[in-house]
Amino acid sequence: MARPADQCLDMPAGLAGPGSAARTFDWRGRALVIRPIVPADEARHTAFFAHLAPEDLRLRFFSPRREVPQAEMLRFVHPDAATEVALMALAAGADGQLEEVASSRAVADAGNVEAEFGITVRSDLKHQGLGRLLLMHLIATVKRRGTQRIACDVLHENTAMRALASSLGFHVDVRAPIGGPMRYVRVLRPCVWGPMLQR
Ligand SMILES: CC(C)(COP(=O)(O)OP(=O)(O)OC[C@H]1O[C@@H](n2cnc3c(N)ncnc32)[C@H](O)[C@@H]1OP(=O)(O)O)[C@@H](O)C(=O)NCCC(=O)NCCS
Repeated sequence: MARPADQCLDMPAGLAGPGSAARTFDWRGRALVIRPIVPADEARHTAFFAHLAPEDLRLRFFSPRREVPQAEMLRFVHPDAATEVALMALAAGADGQLEEVASSRAVADAGNVEAEFGITVRSDLKHQGLGRLLLMHLIATVKRRGTQRIACDVLHENTAMRALASSLGFHVDVRAPIGGPMRYVRVLRPCVWGPMLQR
């Protein structure tokens, strides 16, 4: 019998239950704080994107760009509480101050059927488990909001994101337009109409 996707995950303690705004996790022996993005994060979030490698910006936004325009940045730090989950992961830098090490944002459609997300890990900290930790937290948060599916467009050459999505129970949507990015989808809540429609 197929198991719900969540039961297949090796989810760190603290991710599944309802949570306060900020949560702290162990990340390779360091404290990692994951919390919602707030308007006061504008300068910090701008600096985070300004220091990303150009290739990571391209993989995140699908076109070469040097920076995130201010209007877009303002949208990022003023998420719509009704439809968006925007999270930031922070860890202490060499000076002991918390600095942004990753961020992720999911935007649900009008019926809260599907949320589309993007995720970015600081370029010098990739492949150290941050993406997995933050995405698991994002998935758990979106699921708690009752969204049925979570999805992400991924460029074909983005092997890191494809592997991460696959390892977290996403499947490739074969209905995505040919020639465009790949679409990875994970069902969070089975659609109640599905079995009836299949009869
Ligand atoms: C994609 C991204 C978020 C992954 O985050 P990350 O912190 O580097 O990933 P993690 O260290 O948590 O790795 C999780 C899994 O992803 C896969 N992975 C990560 N980096 C990989 C790489 N360079 N090559 C192949 N697989 C990789 C592996 O399956 C890995 O599991 P493992 O560590 O057990 O091998 C990060 O590379 C990134 O920010 N890229 C630029 C922006 C982007 O592409 N965003 C996605 C589109 S919105």
